Order: sequence, then C-alpha cells, then structure tokens
Amino acid sequence: MSNHENLTIPRPDDWHVHLRDGEMLKAVLPFTARVFARAIVMPNLKPPVTTAARAKMYRDEILAALPKGLKFEPLMTIYLTDASDADDLAQGHKDGIVTAAKLYPAHATTNAEAGVTDIKKIYPVLKRMQAVGMPLLVHGEATDPDIDIFDREAVFIDKILKPLRRDLPDLKVVLEHITTQEAADYVSAEGENGKLAATITAHHLLINRNAMFMGGMRPHYYCLPVAKREKHREALVKVATSGAPMFFLGTDTAPHTRAAKESACGCAGIFTAHNALALYAQVFDEAGHLDRLESFASRFGPAFYGLPVNNDLITLEKSKHSEGDIKPILTGDGRQIVPFAPLSPVVWRIAER
Ligand code: NCD
Ligand code: ZN
Repeated sequence: MSNHENLTIPRPDDWHVHLRDGEMLKAVLPFTARVFARAIVMPNLKPPVTTAARAKMYRDEILAALPKGLKFEPLMTIYLTDASDADDLAQGHKDGIVTAAKLYPAHATTNAEAGVTDIKKIYPVLKRMQAVGMPLLVHGEATDPDIDIFDREAVFIDKILKPLRRDLPDLKVVLEHITTQEAADYVSAEGENGKLAATITAHHLLINRNAMFMGGMRPHYYCLPVAKREKHREALVKVATSGAPMFFLGTDTAPHTRAAKESACGCAGIFTAHNALALYAQVFDEAGHLDRLESFASRFGPAFYGLPVNNDLITLEKSKHSEGDIKPILTGDGRQIVPFAPLSPVVWRIAER
C-alpha cells in the first residue's frame, strides 16, 4: 500500500523476559512467542528457579503453555543465591538446559528476597561460570536503603560491577535493562572485547521519570530500575541506535495483575510484550536510525550469546495512524494485566502474514 513503509528483518529474540507461571504464563506467553524466536527467561518465580532441575521443569511448563503452531525457544536461567551450587550450574549449562545465571542483589527488585547478600559469597560459582563460558546476567542496582533510588544503578557499577570485572575479567556479563548515562558509558567503554553487554528495554527508551507523576501517581510506568531523568533516556537512545554491538534488545516485559500494580505498595514491572518490537521501531525511526534496528533486535544478541541469527523474517510496517489504546489483557482466572501505554502514538506494527 502506498501509505505504508516496510522493514523486514530476521526474526528477533528477546534477551530479557518475565513469563511467570500458571495462568499468568498462559496469558502472556503468546505475545512474546508470536514475535520473538527465542527469549532469555528470568528465574524470579515464587519460589525462584535455583537449580538446573527446576529450570528444566519450568522450560517444560513454558513449552506446554505454548499455543499450537507457534515455534518458540525459551532460554533458561538460574537464580543465584548465597547457596548456589557451581557443579549444578556448570552441568546444567553443559547439558544445554540453562543458558545463563541471574544475579539479583538481595531485595533489589520483585521476588529478589532470596537473592545474593554479598557478591563475594558466590565468587566460587562465578569463577566456575567464567571457566565454562556461562554468562552472568546482572540486575545492577545497589541495595543499601540509604542510597537514593535514582543513584542505585550508578553506585552498583562503581562499587560492585567494576571490582567484580577486575577480579573475573573473562566472565561474560550482561548488565540488564540499563537506565543511566553511567551504564551506557561504562558498557560502551568496556564492551569492546565481547565480555560485557547490556540490554535496553523499550520503555526506558520512551519514558523518563516524569511519566510516573503526570498529574498523579501512575503505577503502570513504575518498574525497576526506575526510569531516570530525560538526559539518561537520551543517552540510552543514543547507544541503542548507535550500531554498537554491546547493546541489544531485552524488553524486561514484567506482567503483574492490575490489583498488584494499583495498590498502596504497587509491584515494580511494566508489561510491553504486546507491542514491544513496534515500540523499538518507533524509537529507532524517530532517531533516524531505522536501518540499525535489525542489528539491535536480531543480530547483536545472538552474537554475544554465541547463537545463530534466526532464519525466518518478520516485517514491520508504518502506517499513518496508531492503533490507539490497548485494552487490558485477561488471564484465564479473570485477572487483568494493563499493557504499557506509550505517551505518543505508535505508528509501527507487525505486518500480518
Ligand atoms: C521485574 C519483575 O516484575 O519480575 N520487575 C521490574 O520492575 N523490572 C523484576 C526486574 O527485572 O527487576
Ligand atoms: Zn527483569
């Protein structure tokens, strides 16, 4: 059609998703699996996925929940705790059950209560991961309650990540869902050798912290790490659309029920799986770098993880009009998930085949 602009790229992967389990899993999985060929699945279930055996069970649950006819490969992760077993991790990685392990500093985010209390406690595990080439995925926020919430990522990089990478320089590390200029600068400077990378969410490319307070409290714009000032959002757009291979797509789509979000102590997490790729396309288009979406979404992630680029293709199209508001998604047990609503109209969408 003459009023459409198209972009065809290899099918992308999502290098950071929360699929949950039970009815929530069934409700959200189709959105991710329709668009993404593979996804790194976060292990912060209740209780968390702390062993290779649990990861295998969780993978089976995801595959069983997959709608017929959809092809999707969940790439499993293990939740690190003070008691993690290096042998179990290494064996799970060798057997192809687990792709990576996730570091949640204790209490840093949703379901992080069982996380690591002191990075030194898991050094033997991290050394083993370094030896076998298993990536460490990091929720990069310092957890000292005295640190201002908007400074927690920058402090984590200085106090935890830099010393860790000095001690274990060959460990592959992904700093997940970066939100600051400091993270963008650090990963740009240190990621050259393929040992350090970062995922960037669509929502952190689209909103700054003002979104949470537009005329009142807006819980559906609240996630962790929390959105920062506009200058940080601009820094993220710059590196995401720069063509630098150490930055790639990870939506951090994190569904919670409407009741859990709209509460006196609302959960952190933004659900973007329903239109994440279109949101990224919008950002790249507005930045004048639509040609670089392909490497960010479909090439740099597989390169970092040592996996092939997907064979099949997906087409995005730009239309003159946005699709407008997206209705809440219903779970099988009658709960609602409120999808992320961008502040300006999204004119990109996945073309129907
Ligand atoms: C995630 C969740 O809900 O599991 N929440 C979030 O705000 N991003 C956890 C996480 O990735 O921090
Ligand atoms: Zn996450």
